[in-house]
Amino acid sequence: MCGIVGYVGPRVATPMLIEGLKRLEYRGYDSAGIAMSNGHGLETRKAKGKISMLEGLVNGNPIHGSVGIAHTRWATHGKPNECNAHPQVDCTNTIAVVHNGIIENFSALRKMLQMQGHTFKSETDTEVLAHLIEAAFDGKLEDAVIDALALVEGTYGIAVLSSKDPDKIVCARKGSPLLIGLGEGEYFVASDAAAILQQTRQVVYLDDGEMGVLTKDGYEVLDLDARRVSKGVSRIDWSLDEIEKGGFDHFMLKEIFEQPQTIQNTMRGRLVVEEGFSKLGGLNLTKDELKAIDQIVITACGTSWHSGLIGELYTEELARIRCEVEYASEFRYRNPIVTDTTLCVVISQSGETADTLAAMREAKRRGAKTLGLVNVVGSTIAREDDGGIYLHAGPEIGVASTKAFTSQVAALALLTLKLARLRNMSVVKGREVAEAMLALPAQIQSILDHASEVEEIAERFKDATNFLYLGRGYQFPVALEGALKLKEISYIHAEGYPAAEMKHGPIALIDSEMPVVFIAPHDAVFDKVVSNIQEVKARGGKVICITSQEEPVLEGMIDHEIRVPQTIDMLYPILTVIPLQLLAYYIAVKRGLNVDQPRNLAKSVTVE
Ligand code: AGP
Ligand code: GLU
Repeated sequence: MCGIVGYVGPRVATPMLIEGLKRLEYRGYDSAGIAMSNGHGLETRKAKGKISMLEGLVNGNPIHGSVGIAHTRWATHGKPNECNAHPQVDCTNTIAVVHNGIIENFSALRKMLQMQGHTFKSETDTEVLAHLIEAAFDGKLEDAVIDALALVEGTYGIAVLSSKDPDKIVCARKGSPLLIGLGEGEYFVASDAAAILQQTRQVVYLDDGEMGVLTKDGYEVLDLDARRVSKGVSRIDWSLDEIEKGGFDHFMLKEIFEQPQTIQNTMRGRLVVEEGFSKLGGLNLTKDELKAIDQIVITACGTSWHSGLIGELYTEELARIRCEVEYASEFRYRNPIVTDTTLCVVISQSGETADTLAAMREAKRRGAKTLGLVNVVGSTIAREDDGGIYLHAGPEIGVASTKAFTSQVAALALLTLKLARLRNMSVVKGREVAEAMLALPAQIQSILDHASEVEEIAERFKDATNFLYLGRGYQFPVALEGALKLKEISYIHAEGYPAAEMKHGPIALIDSEMPVVFIAPHDAVFDKVVSNIQEVKARGGKVICITSQEEPVLEGMIDHEIRVPQTIDMLYPILTVIPLQLLAYYIAVKRGLNVDQPRNLAKSVTVE
């Protein structure tokens, strides 16, 4: 998820590696490290925090050499600290590994390796790779890496050094990008072209299941059966700025388009489809404790509060547990009824939001068990909660939250599956939910493939001064989220309302100038929403409708439509929110606004 850069050649490696890491800073990270193979074995320097800390460390205590690997870590397993930073090494400090991604079966591998006598120093999933390679090493690093990777489930982009097979870097990928940079008598490896752009523009992109072996005399690409693969060389024509945003104009758009992968990462290794169940390792609650929960309080702010509203519907409908959703800023100053059988679910992308943190502390003081749904590993909420589910959505840089929202909803669905299957949900129903979840990444992709249709609608409405967003049931929180996105980045006033509540007041606003966005997939309340659409049309409002593919009855009733693929009712929010994110984005861009850093907003609100 974060950054890798490596060098082998005749030059002194450290300055190039540090420079490369700085070029990866934009991705967000929490610690950094570097390892060098030279005549004195492997030398490693690691530091928590900014790359300047690592740079200071290396300046004070230089490491010499011309074969090295470096990393910026964005923690997924284990706190961000010096020990957990990469490179991770084996027992004898002969193998160093940097890794982006997640090793899903790390805990089984760790137990196996410990039984064989390996000693672990970090909390990371990555460290198993170093020990597996150590165990398999028989003189040739690439062979050991192949043997090790055969045992690994999950995603990785890795670069590996060994003092026993020096002057060589072995790298490999599965689900996490990696490329080889070609210089004159020197070679680079990087997870992102930005890291090496100053050195070369000639690159070879690795595909999943491929491995690169780099020495100063050349490179070769192998598959994981050690057969040579012939690869084309590409030239990078992008500027640094274009690369940082992955070719997108803004981080927000990049993050919207990342959602097929990020949602996959949230579910990875957790969904047990056959049993219609979820495995959530970090809950820290026994089966009996989970069964004893008789009330859930969800607390959060902003977008995270919207996903909480969906969580409320999930827990009540599927797990049949009473649930309330509270703005964290309100909860902390009320006198909430919380007992030791209350589970307080705290949702936060950043894990640092002051109101949410204070609400969690208050719930804890009153005896509730707290569970954090947090994206940033090692953040304050993640450290102080009793248990948690990390979102694994990767760093979110755009101030307007997008991919964190869909991952939060997916994590809430996983949690609900667990709670519901321990109670009254049948395996058949559980399987139906799990199968529908598995289909989500491809379905999101198919919506993104039609982004240009949303852009056309944005062009039509970019000068509007007000917007109304309406939905019922699972789509009401989506209406709130769509309206918030538009407000935040386009500065157009927008309101989200339950569709039927409109007639109790907001209907007075409707005239031919008023765009009304209905979120109306074909779910249990669809027919009711159709009546609400007719009420708007009768008053001349302009209707933009997000509906689902199988819907036939809306024709002639609406002005613009966007269709999303069919899913089960509870999962529609993960699909219907995507066009709303895009609509807000394109309108803001067409109004010439700073999408990634809208006025007056901060990415993480750490004040009350
Ligand atoms: C979302 O687009 C906002 N910028 C904001 O509402 C945000 O969701 C809120 O501040 C909560 O942040 P958190 O998830 O990091 O706690
Ligand atoms: N899962 C690894 C860790 O937590 C890698 C994180 C990353 O991609 O930076 O250490």
